Amino acid sequence: MSADLESILRPVDNPMPPFPAKHVTIASGEEMVIRQVTRDEIPDILPHVAPLIYVERDFYDVVAARVYSELLSYYRYRIQDAYVLVAQIDGELCAVVNGRMATPEVGMSLHTLAMRRGLRIGAHAFAAKMEYHMDIMGQQEVLIVAESPIGFRRWMIEYNLEKRFDVPHELGGVPSWALTKELFDRARATLVVGRRPVPEELLEKAHAAILPPSDPPTPPEDLLAATRSQYDSTGTALILQRWRQEGKV
Ligand SMILES: CC(C)(COP(=O)(O)OP(=O)(O)OC[C@H]1O[C@@H](n2cnc3c(N)ncnc32)[C@H](O)[C@@H]1OP(=O)(O)O)[C@@H](O)C(=O)NCCC(=O)NCCS
Repeated sequence: MSADLESILRPVDNPMPPFPAKHVTIASGEEMVIRQVTRDEIPDILPHVAPLIYVERDFYDVVAARVYSELLSYYRYRIQDAYVLVAQIDGELCAVVNGRMATPEVGMSLHTLAMRRGLRIGAHAFAAKMEYHMDIMGQQEVLIVAESPIGFRRWMIEYNLEKRFDVPHELGGVPSWALTKELFDRARATLVVGRRPVPEELLEKAHAAILPPSDPPTPPEDLLAATRSQYDSTGTALILQRWRQEGKV
């Protein structure tokens, strides 16, 4: 590809302030670092997102496929004004969150992907992303959607988000919800936690390597266990899939 064409295809990013890393003590007592990653670190994250594309439970498949595409687009300069934050415990990758500065006033929340469950790791990572838009970028509101019922509970209900149904969101054109400054200020005391600066030793460990998630969501051994998310009460589609795998059809 000619250098000229690349200069047309490659969007020019607007300046964005960096997200200052923070650390959060999670329910297990472990210290989790939330920090912004650079483009160079994206290849270290993608292999841990890819397997989640095959996990139907809780819509990990849809979200992981989209996150993979967004991260790759970021790495290869095919998305504008985007950022990626990661949550790490002792270097281990625990969550990925990303978004975009849609305009100087409006933020676009893209995704939240928790790779260790049951500790509100995703909720903390999402809160850091909102903090980035509101406090660091100084935006007026953030447009948000949820692909999964857990996401809906975590964002729409816990933050009491406002409907912006006249605005189609970048994610599939579905109606948007909005976090306003006022809602964020109300949530601040309970949902937005963490401290700065991150102790040097913790930060060094996080920067040293993005280690694989120790207990990531995995597809069920028996595909029939996933019928819940297939809207197929008879499980027919999955029985056929299993037969195909076993070479019976
Ligand atoms: C939505 C999401 C980011 C929330 O992450 P989180 O805050 O760390 O929360 P978890 O997913 O661990 O847990 C959510 C609920 O399911 C329960 N849960 C689900 N699987 C669990 C597991 N393996 N172990 C323990 N609890 C589990 C938790 O108890 C929790 O219940 P609560 O809401 O009453 O606290 C995460 O579920 C996720 O990545 N989902 C897939 C992608 C997605 O939907 N992203 C959001 C749309 S953008």
